[in-house]
Amino acid sequence: MKHQDQVVLVTGAGQGMGKEIVGYFADAGANVAAVDINAEAVTETVTEYHGWVSGNIIGITANVAKSDSVRDAIKTTVEKFGRLDVIINVAGVGSLDTFIDTPDEHWEKVIGVNLTGTFLCCREAAKIMTKQGSGIIINISSTAALTGEGPSHYCASKAGVMGLTRSIARELSASGIRVNTIVPGPTNTPMMADVPEEWTQKMIADIPLGRMGESIDIAKVASFLASEDSGFITGQNIAVNGGSAFI
Ligand SMILES: NC(=O)c1ccc[n+]([C@@H]2O[C@H](COP(=O)([O-])OP(=O)(O)OC[C@H]3O[C@@H](n4cnc5c(N)ncnc54)[C@H](O)[C@@H]3O)[C@@H](O)[C@H]2O)c1
Repeated sequence: MKHQDQVVLVTGAGQGMGKEIVGYFADAGANVAAVDINAEAVTETVTEYHGWVSGNIIGITANVAKSDSVRDAIKTTVEKFGRLDVIINVAGVGSLDTFIDTPDEHWEKVIGVNLTGTFLCCREAAKIMTKQGSGIIINISSTAALTGEGPSHYCASKAGVMGLTRSIARELSASGIRVNTIVPGPTNTPMMADVPEEWTQKMIADIPLGRMGESIDIAKVASFLASEDSGFITGQNIAVNGGSAFI
């Protein structure tokens, strides 16, 4: 199996893309730590996949925006599975604010989870992976960072993730660690439920391949980036968006 015995930590595992990625990797033989701030959702993820996937899944409740919480989640994963081969940083939040009316707290929350959270997860994972001499880090950005079609905090946080990826990919390559970012376009997940239907239809009309992305589209690319098939790819931002924006 493609991910047999690989140890994979996935954040944002309670729903949407993160949940799909957990199932995809576990079904391909990986041992997966499913991490989310929502304890109930994590339990549901573990319960839902239990019994029909080949690999093992453990659920961990953690807040990616807090360094202690991230440290504990990674420690628990390594204690349970013995190592950390792959981290996929999916956890993210949005908020539909116009720029001038953006409250400080919304700016801090979105940057805190999407950018600082990704930084903290990359840093703690890299500490383990550097000791191992190998590892794969996969971050999640958004085409909103390229097109500006999104609130300022969200676009800024996701642009930050791409810069973070480019920088740490260079620095960590000497330790045998590859770092890439998936850049999804509009994707059919619970996050999209808050977006007005009119915006959704306009987004779909702008996608050359004629449909919104599905979580499975993202999981398949994460699987490629976590495998040796992508062994010569690092520091890249890879759009998975049906052609809605070009990097
Ligand atoms: N859905 C889209 O159209 C789309 C497009 C581009 C990028 N993205 C990005 O893809 C990622 C996944 O999006 P989704 O649509 O599956 O979102 P979602 O809202 O459906 O799921 C996000 C998950 O992250 C968890 N989470 C939120 N804050 C957290 C925190 N502080 N610590 C740990 N977990 C936390 C939530 O509880 C939730 O389970 C996000 O980073 C999002 O910004 C989504």
